Amino acid sequence: MTTPPLKTNSSEPRIDVLFSATQIADRNKLLATEIAAHHNKDLLVIPVLKGSFIFAADLIREMHHNQLSPQVDFLYLASYYDGTKSSGKVDILRDIETDVSGRDVLLIDDILESGRTLQFAADLMRSRGAASVKICVFLDKKVLRAKDIALDPDYVGFTCSDLFVIGYGMDLAQRYRELPFVGHIVEE
Ligand code: IMP
Ligand code: MG
Repeated sequence: MTTPPLKTNSSEPRIDVLFSATQIADRNKLLATEIAAHHNKDLLVIPVLKGSFIFAADLIREMHHNQLSPQVDFLYLASYYDGTKSSGKVDILRDIETDVSGRDVLLIDDILESGRTLQFAADLMRSRGAASVKICVFLDKKVLRAKDIALDPDYVGFTCSDLFVIGYGMDLAQRYRELPFVGHIVEE
């Protein structure tokens, strides 16, 4: 992940749209249909905070339109970076309250990059006795997967190239999460 500098002067950076609000809404409808085809009603959905909060909010409402009524709990993780590379260290900032033993868990995250965050979350759920753990990510940056991580998401919104993206819940220094589309900052 190459993070662009956050401009502190008055000029706002140029943001190019990668995925529009309409494209996202259309994709979410299909994703929910896919999920409903493979899951029963007793699904436990766990969004990984913070970046996934908008995607998860849209997706679980689409699940409702597909006759799914998941239980929802939240896991807040912090992943640490050495410069722009994932260090592999992941901390739990806020744990789920639900007992996952015997449950079908669906982890939802914004971006799968090195894979370390979701590997950690999936291992945690399995170690607590989840019956199954599936992974749904909004964006898959496949080319950036760490060599030692063999993690294949079960549901993917879009595949994304090696670009730093913002919007639709995703941030640059806690800003831009409110954008209804996914964009990237163009350095001029
Ligand atoms: P990883 O798969 O453990 O390397 O980390 C993925 C996490 O890094 C995501 O859930 C995001 O929180 C963050 N991240 C990775 N790429 C981007 C980006 O382009 N924009 C914003 N956050 C990102
Ligand atoms: Mg995240």
